[in-house]
Amino acid sequence: MTHNNDLAKKLKKLAKEGNIVPDLALLKTPEQIEKIKKSAALNTAVLDYVEQNLKAGISTEDINTMVYDYTTSHGGIPAPLNYEGFPKSVCTSINDVICHGIPSKDEILKDGDIINVDVSTILDGYFSDASRMYKIGTVSKRAAKLVDITKECVELGLKEAKPFNHLGDIAYAINSHATKNGYSVVPDIGGHGIGLEFHEDPFVSYVTPKGSEMVLVPGMMFTIEPMINEGEPDFCIDEENGWTIYTYDGMLSAQVEYMVLITENGAEVLSR
Ligand code: MF3
Ligand code: CO
Repeated sequence: MTHNNDLAKKLKKLAKEGNIVPDLALLKTPEQIEKIKKSAALNTAVLDYVEQNLKAGISTEDINTMVYDYTTSHGGIPAPLNYEGFPKSVCTSINDVICHGIPSKDEILKDGDIINVDVSTILDGYFSDASRMYKIGTVSKRAAKLVDITKECVELGLKEAKPFNHLGDIAYAINSHATKNGYSVVPDIGGHGIGLEFHEDPFVSYVTPKGSEMVLVPGMMFTIEPMINEGEPDFCIDEENGWTIYTYDGMLSAQVEYMVLITENGAEVLSR
């Protein structure tokens, strides 16, 4: 209780000084953390299972089947399924697709593709979310570099995820590494709080300045999931399905997503 009062006082002071501070309701309790960690462990296991079976020649519908079968046979529910009308259990985003690719039996993975597999899980009512980026067979140097730099961006962002830093510090680390390599970070689409719901506050941008946005506090849980474009940051949405987001210039895009918990001395990755 004393600890919580001290924290409330500290946050009040930070807010007075002009900082955005989290509502205490965003901070997960130890009991919630324990349950969310179980959901996150299943989410990681689903990603591992897909990874073992990913190869040229399979369809993105095959990935969807793997995610659905593995998740449900382990007592979970794929969070994307029927989420705001999303028709499948996983997002599969190939090459110039930035995010929210919808699995299809007509979409076959081929040598040279890069793909993001974004898995989100509900277990016992608790939510988890993470995504990985894969190179199928032998990919171009261009594509390989984009995938590698995107992974580095998320690792650099993670280093800034610690108590009393700001979300903008994570964004700055990511955005500067991306732009240094000639890439751009997609604005407007970003990460989110997670745990009790699929998408909670705060919204997490990766284009905001150092020292801006919400102060990080132990117990906060959110995703680090920048979308890095090889070319311009502009995007367009598929008019037919209303979901899939593409690069406007048709160049490649990559994304990696970690689900993190802010701890007393840093951050713990719950699913990656
Ligand atoms: N997993 C995505 C995220 O990181 C959300 C996808 S919503 C869906 O926020 F409906 F497309 F699955
Ligand atoms: Co996700």
